[in-house]
Amino acid sequence: MSTERKVVLTCAQPTGNLHIGNYLGAIRNWAELLDDYECYFGIVDMHAITVPYVPAELRRSSLDTLALYVACGLDPERCRLFLQSHVTGHTELAWILGCVTPLGQLERMTQFKDKARRQGERVNAGLLYYPVLMAADILLYNADLVPVGEDQKQHVELCRDIAHKFNNTYSETFRLPDVYVPSTGARIRSLQDPERKMSKSDDNTNGALYLLDEPRVLRKKIMSAVTDSGSEIVAREDKPGVTNLLTIWSAATGRPIAELEEACRGLSGYAPFKELVADAVVSLLEPIQLRYKALAEDKSRLESIIAQGAEAAQKRAWRTLSKVTRKTGFVERPRK
Ligand code: TYM
Repeated sequence: MSTERKVVLTCAQPTGNLHIGNYLGAIRNWAELLDDYECYFGIVDMHAITVPYVPAELRRSSLDTLALYVACGLDPERCRLFLQSHVTGHTELAWILGCVTPLGQLERMTQFKDKARRQGERVNAGLLYYPVLMAADILLYNADLVPVGEDQKQHVELCRDIAHKFNNTYSETFRLPDVYVPSTGARIRSLQDPERKMSKSDDNTNGALYLLDEPRVLRKKIMSAVTDSGSEIVAREDKPGVTNLLTIWSAATGRPIAELEEACRGLSGYAPFKELVADAVVSLLEPIQLRYKALAEDKSRLESIIAQGAEAAQKRAWRTLSKVTRKTGFVERPRK
């Protein structure tokens, strides 16, 4: 019987600051997989250049994201944390996969359509190709499981289609990865526009609770969150603002939404409710912020985590890449 552990791969973009949606919908759940899976967690700096950005800020936020990964519980001794641009293979595999991916399927991706609509004429080809690079991130590690928030589910499904197409074209090579979306916290919405997801790239920074916001800022944003008409504190479709706050509170504390609704019965108005949500968010994020501060100042520790992660990730990536290039019909690279 094989004792090999199944492989988990997932990533986040280092654009801007990570927010509580990234934590509750993604990173926190990754930390629970460390004991049972061989885990690879990437920081996808190459995806981050598909939208306008400032190079110096990308460099800084890539390191910040790494420090936050560790502060959120991704122990580098028990998983591999790596920067996408440090591992040879992501873009090489993306090119090969792109050649078996129908163009129409990329044009139909919801996230591409949204971003393309917003960017108009300025939209670049990288944005269209983005899901192929994401498929390469996953398949390069031959991952069994990909934990993501709701918004990335479509991209993982496309990755399965691409893997299937490659296997059919060239013979069995890739496992078809399963997607795992958490039951609570998979879609945290903007505090200012609860019809939309909380997003790093939102122009209105009051809509997002960033992991590194000071407690007073977190409180202020929650107190000024958009709520709905009426005064009932219940999770219901016609009350997206209140539902979002209840979801955050529930995901932050592990208490079911029904129990929280019950606890709010008798409160007068939304203000005391928001204060309870703020208390829960501050207690959740304070320990993460303390751990982040200690690590962000320790440059040599960060450098050693990066080096160790890149080496382990590269080792697995080479294995897949050489198999794929052989199957694709490329002549074997000369050995040094
Ligand atoms: P990114 O950087 O936007 O988000 C990182 C993770 O956070 C989840 N997430 C959310 N969850 C709940 N509520 C929200 N408001 C919210 N916003 C974001 C995302 O679903 C994701 O799990 N394309 C990916 C990065 C990527 C990737 C990959 C992921 C590149 N290659 C390979 C998995 C596997 C992205 O932009 O995630």
